[in-house]
Amino acid sequence: MLEAVESDLGRQWERETTVRVMTAYVAHELNHPLGTILNLVNTLSRHLAKPVVRPQDINEYLGSIKAEALRASTTIKHLRLLTERRPTKRSSIHLTDVCREAIDRLRPLADAKRVRLRLEVRTDQTQVKGVKELLGTALYNFLVNSIAALDDPAIAARKLMIRIVAETPDTTSVQVFDNGCGLPEDIRDKIFEPFVTTRADGSGLGLAIAGDIVRWHRGRVSCRSRRRGTCMEMILPNE
Ligand SMILES: Nc1ncnc2c1ncn2[C@@H]1O[C@H](COP(=O)(O)OP(=O)(O)O)[C@@H](O)[C@H]1O
Ligand SMILES: [Mg+2]
Repeated sequence: MLEAVESDLGRQWERETTVRVMTAYVAHELNHPLGTILNLVNTLSRHLAKPVVRPQDINEYLGSIKAEALRASTTIKHLRLLTERRPTKRSSIHLTDVCREAIDRLRPLADAKRVRLRLEVRTDQTQVKGVKELLGTALYNFLVNSIAALDDPAIAARKLMIRIVAETPDTTSVQVFDNGCGLPEDIRDKIFEPFVTTRADGSGLGLAIAGDIVRWHRGRVSCRSRRRGTCMEMILPNE
């Protein structure tokens, strides 16, 4: 009897934790696109105040706003997959596409922060089974952390590299290298746990989301750090 009550409580706790973490995940993933949309709208209204306004410029802004809004809604839709019990249809996707899309999305931020961003593909086997948008979110979360870690005037040449390599004959690895500040030693073994952060404005959720997404794909995540620089890695099964 007591055991039954305990297991009920256990399940309830598990559910509540999932709801709490999931709510935080959704808030985290909405924050970026909403910030971008706000910036674009502000720039557009300044632009509209100019004496001469070209329609094609306005269209460009509107296109970017639309793309961000669409991305926000698909991200939320895909995040929900992580909590669903029924199996999701996973398609064959190319990790090169996932990387290129994340790079395109982050290029403006990387340029603004003077970060050199490049992709190195060291294997012909870049195909995995999964949901492209979810893996894109995981990689994006790795990359924004690296860009933040490089935001230090003391680092003259700020380098961020994504490398795709064959980990074993059955697994492919996406590694993200930066020459930033390095992982703080005291949180190194728990950075993939939710709510672990060293940033004043951090949520500690980016890597927890990335870890959940990669495990959902039956892969695993890891990190390595020296005093200068960090390597974040996701290893995915090819099938
Ligand atoms: N590339 C990196 N270089 C240095 N520290 C990192 C890097 N990636 C993550 N971290 C550390 O891990 C913590 C957790 O990251 P994350 O889960 O994305 O949360 P947040 O970015 O909100 O702090 C960060 O606060 C930071 O201390
Ligand atoms: Mg982060």
